[in-house]
Amino acid sequence: MPTDEPRPTDEELIARWRDQPAPLLPLLHAFHDRDEHLSDEALRKVAHALRLPLADLFGTVTFYHHFARTPGGKSAPRVCDGPVCRTRGCDRLLEELEGATPMPCAGRCDDPVPVIVGDRYLVGTPGEPLAERPTPLPAPNPGGAEECCFAEIRTPGRATLAGYRASGGYAGLERARAMSQDELLDLLEASGLAGRGGAGFPTARKWRAVRDAGGPDDPRTIVCNADEGEPGCFKDRVLMDHDPHAVIEGMAIAAHATGAELGFLYLRYEYPHTQAILERAIEEARDLLGDFRLLVRRGAGAYICGEETSLLNSLEGRHPFPRNKPPYPVTHGYEQTPTAVNNVETLASVPPIVARGADWYAGLGLGEHRGTKLISLSGDVRRPGNYEVPIGLPLRTLLEDWAGGPLEGRRIQAVTMAGLSGGFLGARDLDATLDEPCLRGKGSFLGAGGIMVFDDTRDMVEVARQAMSFFAHESCGKCFPCRIGTQRLTERLAGVAGPADPEAWRAEVRAIGHTMSQVSACGLGIAAPLVTESLLDLFPDQVDAHLAKR
Ligand SMILES: Cc1cc2nc3c(=O)[nH]c(=O)nc-3n(C[C@H](O)[C@H](O)[C@H](O)COP(=O)(O)O)c2cc1C
Ligand code: SF4
Repeated sequence: MPTDEPRPTDEELIARWRDQPAPLLPLLHAFHDRDEHLSDEALRKVAHALRLPLADLFGTVTFYHHFARTPGGKSAPRVCDGPVCRTRGCDRLLEELEGATPMPCAGRCDDPVPVIVGDRYLVGTPGEPLAERPTPLPAPNPGGAEECCFAEIRTPGRATLAGYRASGGYAGLERARAMSQDELLDLLEASGLAGRGGAGFPTARKWRAVRDAGGPDDPRTIVCNADEGEPGCFKDRVLMDHDPHAVIEGMAIAAHATGAELGFLYLRYEYPHTQAILERAIEEARDLLGDFRLLVRRGAGAYICGEETSLLNSLEGRHPFPRNKPPYPVTHGYEQTPTAVNNVETLASVPPIVARGADWYAGLGLGEHRGTKLISLSGDVRRPGNYEVPIGLPLRTLLEDWAGGPLEGRRIQAVTMAGLSGGFLGARDLDATLDEPCLRGKGSFLGAGGIMVFDDTRDMVEVARQAMSFFAHESCGKCFPCRIGTQRLTERLAGVAGPADPEAWRAEVRAIGHTMSQVSACGLGIAAPLVTESLLDLFPDQVDAHLAKR
């Protein structure tokens, strides 16, 4: 970290963080930033300062992808090798950039290939110098459908407090504070807002449970899940980079609805530039937040930390395994306090809903569906980017009318759903509508809203192998079926394992997937087999060709 400022001493770093809430991650980052790696000496000091067993701390630190353990390691380039970046030359970049290592999807599939060097978030194109480009704004919605989260995001100056207020910001918080908690929760319930991070849990029900847990004066916590680790998802990045006050206002309204006085924004490591944007916005909003204390905590690279209980363990400085549920975070969350963990998009939806009313928001959906959903669209389509769609919009309308369809002379053969977690839909499914009932009927789900498009030049077995290898890499290893199952499926898709007889091969792949989906402890192990299931169902010819080649 070359800078003219004197390097802080160990004692100064420790004194700054030791007594703060959730101190482990910021303290580790402070040493990592100062020394460009985490030395054994630094780990010993942190363990001593926070009274953590050194062996436990070592296990936790090495679980994360991005804490470098060798001198200078923090500045070595990390190149995204997610599904879209693999089609955009990330392998060549890995060869061209000295000391580069691959990292899982870094959430810039609309403008690939992201490369992180130290705390710089750059874009790489093979054969060209790395470029510094701001997060692309969403293009104006070509369908003319009314938006909620994106309605004002393109307004110049929106990321500043003045610009945010000038475009209607903080009116929702003002209105919320004039309401009782019950009135506010009733309004949100009537809007139909459900979680946008993947599981779709009704937001009002979650907040009511937090409000009702424990005694009236017990501490409560709001956590914004900004981990956005799902490959193909980059909608939370655009919200935080261009509309940070919307997220903060949503959190402040959540605090009012539940009685919470402490909040965390848990930000993924791979958005280094976003931390400064959020911290500046929190500082600007300090007077508006009143008693609500809001802190940013930066992760260190682990997809599983997006799972809410794993995130809470990470925040608390524990090993970030998912917790057994129940109890749920609404009663036993951060430091055992009742906690609402909500996605960035969910929280950013709240201020306009409160300001404009439940009927307005509910009416944005098509047919019987309520509200909107942000979709991160990428891959083999002419206009990738973030789109805010009315829930219930036909997938074909999004792909062809809004995003311009496939490239000249190509045909869409598959799209992923929920990033990678929803597996594939095929060309025959393009008449689906973007809502959970329809997509679940097709064996998939909308989840966080990442859709990656693959045209007819792509080898779908290879795409599936890469997807499964991501899940194998990111499986936290806590439970056997997921830890082993993702590895076994990756080997089979790579053509290096499994029965010689094609029928037996298929049966075995389905059996492994079935076991994983039935007994895995969290959503990663439950969802990963959707990749192989949908591959077998949609692309039997490509699977046959793969088997014949072994
Ligand atoms: C493996 C895994 C990864 C997840 N990653 C994220 C994530 O990056 N961001 C997110 O908001 N939710 C993620 N979730 C869902 C969270 O556990 C949780 O449901 C969500 O943050 C709740 O917020 P919401 O109700 O606003 O959607 C993930 C779940 C699983 C199982
Ligand atoms: S399902 Fe996978 S990621 Fe989830 S707890 Fe088990 S091993 Fe960890």
